[in-house]
Amino acid sequence: KKVVLAYSGGLDTSVILRWLQKTYNCEVVTFTADLGQGEELEPARKKAEMFGVKEIFVDDLRETFVKDYVFPMFRANTVYEGQYLLGTSIARPLISKRQIEIAEAVGADAVAHGATGKGNDQVRFELSYYALKPDVKVIAPWREWDLTSRTKLLAFAEENQIPVTKDKRGEAPFSVDANLLHSSSEGKILENPAEAPDEIVFQRTISPEAAPDKATEISIDFVEGDPVAINGVAMSPATLLARLNELGRDNGIGRLDIVENRFVGMKSRGIYETPGGTILLAAHRAMESITLDREAAHLKDSIMPRYAELIYNGFWFSPERRMLQALIDTSQHSVTGRVRMKLYKGNVVCVGRESPNSLYDARVVTFEDDEGAYNQQDAQGFIKLNALRLRIGGQIGRRGGAL
Ligand code: ARG
Ligand code: SIN
Repeated sequence: KKVVLAYSGGLDTSVILRWLQKTYNCEVVTFTADLGQGEELEPARKKAEMFGVKEIFVDDLRETFVKDYVFPMFRANTVYEGQYLLGTSIARPLISKRQIEIAEAVGADAVAHGATGKGNDQVRFELSYYALKPDVKVIAPWREWDLTSRTKLLAFAEENQIPVTKDKRGEAPFSVDANLLHSSSEGKILENPAEAPDEIVFQRTISPEAAPDKATEISIDFVEGDPVAINGVAMSPATLLARLNELGRDNGIGRLDIVENRFVGMKSRGIYETPGGTILLAAHRAMESITLDREAAHLKDSIMPRYAELIYNGFWFSPERRMLQALIDTSQHSVTGRVRMKLYKGNVVCVGRESPNSLYDARVVTFEDDEGAYNQQDAQGFIKLNALRLRIGGQIGRRGGAL
């Protein structure tokens, strides 16, 4: 029996690795994805070797992650519950996909992950597994074992010589997930939503207060909805996002402290940092502001919450996601051009936009003489007919929209 474990090399998945070997007496194959989490991956390989793992996969998926997952999601200006840029949610389908490919390649019948039975990640991993390999066997140790708390987990680690990395204060770290798009921190003191997060929680942004008093201005070029260059310099998707992350970090951009609704039904509090993504979202919206037709823009805005929810809930590999993606992608053919963005103490503001496909017509909109480009008389009938039902209502005593 063989099982492919999504292995980060961190405490939880190291405990799981050992536990799987002991409990299931099976051969564990580890898979560690480089999604730009900014951690060394060689230690993960070393640790797996130390545990006697024979087949170890360490894959650099950064470009695929940004090109085929992050960028398609940003084409929709996706945010969950008005704020969350889905940094963790969007990484899960890719990890699952590669994990299933590895399972097929090494002849494993089972896959395992380190998500708890309380969260969203278990749902995202497993929905993706089942969508890609309907007969796969899933092992979710957090739902099976008797290590029912972090304290018991730490004790198991101690007994099995699994190293526990401490934070800067010598404490066990927060529950962290990180990739090129974001990092999230949950747990410990953050479980009290009334308490502000300490500065120590933040890993990839300086605080807006500590950011320079001078604004940074950059340009971002888009081609068909995707960013392709910063300050005129063309970059690969992962390189570009990494560069935006640096710019965001240095200007204190992209910090978020929210209480969100998990798919399983509970509320949870998270601290997220999405520096590059926050810049990209504002820039993409600015690019769309001149290149998209109003109704096209409003239609895609109206489906966005639905699209965000299905990514959050783990349905990336679903017919409805593909249908919405097709609609979103179709809308992006004209979204080409350049925006200039100002970064300043936690803020990102558009200060200029231009495009060969611009629908902005200065002759029509001008406050000056439009030389016949627009006939102001046309507006009279337009308003009168729009007012017709309001006036009829008012005439029978239902003034001001009274029901
Ligand atoms: N609450 C966020 C989400 O559901 C972040 C989850 C972080 N996951 C983790 N394993 N630390 O997308
Ligand atoms: C977990 O439960 O493993 C992390 C949080 C989540 O998945 O929502």
